[in-house]
Amino acid sequence: MTQATLSEQVETLCQAAFVAAGFDAALGTVKTSDRPDLADFQCNGLLAAAKRYKVNPRAAAEEMLTRFEGNGLAEVSIAGPGFLNFRILPHALLAQAAAHSSDARSLVPTVAPQHFLLDYGGPNVAKEMHVGHLRSSIVGQALHDILTFAGHKTEGDVHLGDWGLQLGLLITLIEEEQPHLLEDPDNALLTMEDLQAWYPKASARSKEDAPFLDRARSTTQAMQSGQGSYYAMWKRIVEVSSVALQRDFARLGVSFDYWYGESRYQAALDGLVTQLKEKGDAVEDDGAVIIRLPEEAGDIPPLMLRNSKGGYGYGATDLATIDERTGENRPDTLLYVVDARQRTHFQQVFAAAKKTGLDRGTGLEHIAFGTVNGPDGKPFKTRAGGVMRLSELMDMMHEAAKTRLAEGSDLTGDMLEKTAEDIAVAAVKFGELSHDRESNYIFDMDQFLRFEGKTGPYLQYTVVRIRSLFDRAAAAGVQPGDICKLGDNARELILCADDLPAQMARTIETRKPSVLAMHLYSLANRMNQFYAANKVLADDVSPDHAAARLGLLKMAEAQLVTGLGILGIPVPDRM
Ligand code: ARG
Repeated sequence: MTQATLSEQVETLCQAAFVAAGFDAALGTVKTSDRPDLADFQCNGLLAAAKRYKVNPRAAAEEMLTRFEGNGLAEVSIAGPGFLNFRILPHALLAQAAAHSSDARSLVPTVAPQHFLLDYGGPNVAKEMHVGHLRSSIVGQALHDILTFAGHKTEGDVHLGDWGLQLGLLITLIEEEQPHLLEDPDNALLTMEDLQAWYPKASARSKEDAPFLDRARSTTQAMQSGQGSYYAMWKRIVEVSSVALQRDFARLGVSFDYWYGESRYQAALDGLVTQLKEKGDAVEDDGAVIIRLPEEAGDIPPLMLRNSKGGYGYGATDLATIDERTGENRPDTLLYVVDARQRTHFQQVFAAAKKTGLDRGTGLEHIAFGTVNGPDGKPFKTRAGGVMRLSELMDMMHEAAKTRLAEGSDLTGDMLEKTAEDIAVAAVKFGELSHDRESNYIFDMDQFLRFEGKTGPYLQYTVVRIRSLFDRAAAAGVQPGDICKLGDNARELILCADDLPAQMARTIETRKPSVLAMHLYSLANRMNQFYAANKVLADDVSPDHAAARLGLLKMAEAQLVTGLGILGIPVPDRM
């Protein structure tokens, strides 16, 4: 069962005092204090109450002092012209910490369960996944897992880009250079490495060789209309790419319930357009078919369904996708974790879905994110100047983590490899999750790999260090015991841990995993500060004290590990 947080408990008492004084309870809300040196929580509602009920603020505050029933939980004082400050009593702090330590789920916020479908990852077949898809994958998976942890129903769909011109380009190059592969595409010996080598070649050719581009266009058309060997080749390429993508994703703990792609919806497009035209929602415009959008959707162009050459594009596909997703077992909300540069596209698609009723009342949200830049402030690139592939990026991080470990630890062999990979994953994921998704950030490998500061390895190291303390204590016969004593910095640590449900709720509300990530960073800081101020294994520490300190650290460690688990950040045994 969820334990009410200290903030909630104080609020209940504060609101009761407001009611006793004849004020609206809604004015008695409480928040974390801006001045932790003076108070733990504060209520700013008295000034509004004084105004509304035409009383003197100072007098109203004085009255609160008599009305407030602290119930052994907190004491109240007045600050400024009429603010209420609350300080939690030591006994109540200890009781709260004890409640959390005896129940791992005591900090799970309660929610009315909803059903979410997340569209994230979104890599494009044949172009292997690059750093630009990193944000979508990491933020999307974190949101998925946070929502699941909180008790919501969640599904994830990768929505592969598997239907565009890039495939026609690739197949045209294959036809020229490796024609034998098209004789039996189902069994063509084809690797991801081949595709990676060929795609840039095909792409470059298309820019300088107009006849090649023309051929690629007709190949795309042929492939899309299901023509024999082109279609079979397309299937084979998608198959090979998907396996490689799954492997790349798995390395980051990213996985999907559905591996659907844009191709899935193509067969439905003719029917959808006919139906929308009959209803009058879609109209012919200069040979094209478009959906005009209502003014309240903002100043955006109409959604193009079919161009004047009869081709369907991204907009049509996304509308058909919504049609399917809001069909049977429709989710309450669809979340699209996609680059902010596609904002207009989603505004158009969502407005069109509403206008046509294809949304069927489902919430549609674009969870937008900014760009990942290199230390030079430009979009992240490899040394060769190309866009960095995800597997290459992870290999680089792995090697750098290994170098760092080799300097400071005695890990070798498999343990060294495994630990380096854990650190690389933590560095990349926390590097992403510690930034607000809406802002751009710099992918700074050295910074992300540091063991101190706002980094994944710092959080891992905090756990590893505390666990080693538990081991050493156990060897000395000291076990985590009742949290019966506070020490320096204990208050800050307990209040921080107790704030998890509020931070989780805010994470979900804002759809920003960075909120949870930053909470975990604060928690790690508080743990380290507490431990620095309160020795456990020293001659002058009584066994009671040692056990109580370990007990508190154990409670915090459990929460930190749970949080890292939700964010998919592994904790190595040693580092
Ligand atoms: N494949 C697209 C891209 O690379 C992202 C797909 C996002 N999802 C969607 N339903 N449009 O930009």
